[in-house]
Amino acid sequence: MNATTQDAMLQAIGIIKDEHQSMGAVLKGLQAHLEAVREGRDKPDFPLFHAMFDYIETIPDRVHHPKEDEYLFRLLRMRTAAADIILDELEGQHKVCATLLASVRKAMCAYRESADLAGFERSLNAYAEFLWEHMRKEEEIVLPLAEQHLTGEDWEAIHAAFQANRSQAW
Ligand SMILES: [Fe+2]
Repeated sequence: MNATTQDAMLQAIGIIKDEHQSMGAVLKGLQAHLEAVREGRDKPDFPLFHAMFDYIETIPDRVHHPKEDEYLFRLLRMRTAAADIILDELEGQHKVCATLLASVRKAMCAYRESADLAGFERSLNAYAEFLWEHMRKEEEIVLPLAEQHLTGEDWEAIHAAFQANRSQAW
């Protein structure tokens, strides 16, 4: 790998990790807000919940995960079979992300209607756990395998795809 492709690799990995961090920050923000509501330090901010769920639905679910599937995962499958099992698992998780988020929204509505804060918190925490574990596996298992097996051209394609995300509202 020459210096340019090495650079593309480092930048692509940096963007993927940044996007994971943004997602994590939104989830942590939501959890902190719910905790403050439970402890009586704050009133529930429903527009904030909606805005955060809309963000997760628009950016991570429609932009970030599909790009992982179409570029990082697809190219890695072409270069090695060593990642197949973990990629099957992660792609399966990408497919259920939207359904899980819908159930968190439902729990939020139930909370609004019947004050079931514990149910909403449980649902949100389960969703956050699920996503953290998912992102952890991508960073600790998939990215090291990708560094090992992908070519310079692969990284340039992945970098270009994720670089295009930058123009979106992360
Ligand atoms: Fe992912």
